[in-house]
Amino acid sequence: MMNREQNQQLGEVIQQFIHSYIASFNNIRSQKVFNIADGETIAQLRGMGFPKKGRPVREVVDGMMKSVYPHQAFMQHPRCFAFIPSPMSLLSWFGDIMTSAYNPHAGSWVQSSSASFIEQEVIRWMCDQAGYPDTAGGLFMSGGSMSNLTALAAARSARLSEHEYDNGIAYVSEQTHSSVSKGLRILGFRADQIRKIPSDENFRMDISALEKAVIDDRAVGKKPFAIIATAGTTNTGSIDPLNEIADLCEKHNIWLHVDGAYGASILVSSKYKPLLSGISRSDSISWDAHKWLMQTYCCSVILVKEKQHLRNCFSTHPEYLKDAETDEEQINYWDMGPELTRPARSLKLWMTLQALGTNAVGEAIEHGVQLAEWAEDEIKKHNHWEIVSPAQLAIVNFRYAPTGLSDQELDSLNKRISQEMVKNGYASVLTTQLHGKTVLRICAIHPDTTEDEMRNTIQLLANIGRSIE
Ligand SMILES: Cc1ncc(COP(=O)(O)O)c(C=O)c1O
Repeated sequence: MMNREQNQQLGEVIQQFIHSYIASFNNIRSQKVFNIADGETIAQLRGMGFPKKGRPVREVVDGMMKSVYPHQAFMQHPRCFAFIPSPMSLLSWFGDIMTSAYNPHAGSWVQSSSASFIEQEVIRWMCDQAGYPDTAGGLFMSGGSMSNLTALAAARSARLSEHEYDNGIAYVSEQTHSSVSKGLRILGFRADQIRKIPSDENFRMDISALEKAVIDDRAVGKKPFAIIATAGTTNTGSIDPLNEIADLCEKHNIWLHVDGAYGASILVSSKYKPLLSGISRSDSISWDAHKWLMQTYCCSVILVKEKQHLRNCFSTHPEYLKDAETDEEQINYWDMGPELTRPARSLKLWMTLQALGTNAVGEAIEHGVQLAEWAEDEIKKHNHWEIVSPAQLAIVNFRYAPTGLSDQELDSLNKRISQEMVKNGYASVLTTQLHGKTVLRICAIHPDTTEDEMRNTIQLLANIGRSIE
């Protein structure tokens, strides 16, 4: 396809790309956070079609640098406070590039022994953070949605026999991430097999409502099999009462899954780790490294206290894979999860941890907690701004509520403030809804965001609010 000379030329293009990317990474603060392609750009991309005869690669790359990559939300921008940002480390980026370069197949030991061993090592380190015993294990997945799905599949096979699937009930809260219900639906559970438990005024699962629902379901012959608690909800960063939920699960032999896709990273901070007290009593945990562990997409982990449950659920032994079969020490990850072919996602995280050290990662996480506290402090200085959910796990929710406006008018005012902020480009702050109100939400997990940037963002929001009220 490509001769040595062409590969050499491509190497030069690659080197230039790396230099120019690092320059733009260092200069990211000068970019707007959200950048959406205009009609002209989309038309131009559409017009390119697929040539019968190839074009010089330099020209293709230049076109991508001009028409593709600039048109995105820079989720790694230090002033991106929207959704869950992705403050990726350049180390992770480099780890990703190296892993793609060598392209190990991380499905089996024979294809990627060292990478599989490193995956085991990183999983063991994460299990230690969670207080899981030696029997625990897990694997890397593409994201929190897939980790949740994998955990739910394991929960189903561990707690229900096949003829009970129809009768199984899973419990989520109204603040649980939508990927959990989506996962349950993918597994074949009907909507009437998913109980949405209300949350209290602090957005934590209401434990008495949960207990009542479990007891009521058992009384009519249903099979409660999984409770999904969240360690760091997407809206507010709230943490469900893990110990109380664990007590209930133990009493009724229910699988406890903790969705820590966002918040489990706090376990790396010795200062804040106690916030997740009780997590060691769960049966499984989802934990996204592409959120608060500074990894590029797609880097998530599912941990299971008894790793045998993953094998029971996912291992298959087809004749064409027999040559790759190994003993338990030399894990074939295709036996532990839904994927057969999979990239070695653990390597970039391992590399980041090696290069930075776990103390620095813990401090980076603590900085996020502090950023949201600075934001809250600044919001409180402004008249008619109210805190709807105080800073917790680096998330704060608030809104501008000048007197004399109806609820509906306040909702649209806050929506407009967010839109104007995004247009301005200095920072991105989006909205969500809490207790029926539209509120502004900041999720601040970038280790390089400064106190000034955080306070300036709030001041800018306040100025926008006053100007459009
Ligand atoms: C609590 C929680 N769970 C699950 C997910 C889904 O993760 P992913 O987007 O990596 O699939 C998210 C995403 O924001 C989340 O916040």
